[in-house]
Amino acid sequence: MLDGSSRPALVPTMGNLHEGHLSLVRIARSRRRPVVATIFVNRLQFAPTDDFDQYPRTLSRDTELLEDASCDILFAPTASEMYPEPQSYKVHPPEDLANILEGQFRPGFFTGVCTVVLKLFNIVQPQIAVFGKKDYQQLLIIRDMARQLALPIEVLGGETVREGDGLAMSSRNAYLSPAERVESAQLHTALQRMADGVRAGRCDWDGLQREASDALDARGWKTDYVAIRQPDRLSKPATSSPLVVFAAARLGTTRLIDNIELSSLS
Ligand code: PAJ
Repeated sequence: MLDGSSRPALVPTMGNLHEGHLSLVRIARSRRRPVVATIFVNRLQFAPTDDFDQYPRTLSRDTELLEDASCDILFAPTASEMYPEPQSYKVHPPEDLANILEGQFRPGFFTGVCTVVLKLFNIVQPQIAVFGKKDYQQLLIIRDMARQLALPIEVLGGETVREGDGLAMSSRNAYLSPAERVESAQLHTALQRMADGVRAGRCDWDGLQREASDALDARGWKTDYVAIRQPDRLSKPATSSPLVVFAAARLGTTRLIDNIELSSLS
């Protein structure tokens, strides 16, 4: 293993970089050690019906953006470099965390994520790894994996970067038609309304969730879930604070996810 002072800060991505990814590179840079970004569209975390083939691949532009952001090393392996043989050893995160919310609608997703992230950790040997709160459940699960497997890595969370109208930046936003792009900000609006309700003292969680999901569906969305949860194990709320409100919904063929914290997860 590299000695502690030279072990890098890692920012794993699937490419098609935007300001959200670059904000994580800046967090990594602020820790005064070499910064490694990875770009790998990980087939293991896509279901057969998912958008693996369609997923935007923009390596030359991504390389320029990373250079401009003073990223030191880009690791962009091919599928056969990353998986030279079938990946039969996999990391299965605990069901209570991985089979709810995203995991309920994307079976096996977090196994694919944990397996590739552990493999990237072993290849890059970072001291620090930075993930976005945009994918809150992913950040929690990776932090949990690092702690439980005693990985010598500090897992940091970066705030969600949004467009001017509140839409969380995402590579998948590129799939939206111009009309859908206008409508897409409503996901954040629905979460904000729920958050306002909680802040105003409402604690009828089911009612709040149903109102948000009905409001989205009435506008033509297909809501997968709207959920108010505690930030540590994503369990159902016992008290009104701290909490995180989550939503995942499809607009046309594009699936979007977002969340708002009503407390801070460091
Ligand atoms: P990807 O979707 O490319 O996201 C890479 C990292 O950027 C993740 O940590 C994600 O949470 C963060 N991110 C995405 N949008 C963001 C935004 N608007 N603001 C802040 N951070 C944002 O997540 C993955 O790739 C993959 O699952 C990966 C972890 C790389 C494993 O394959």
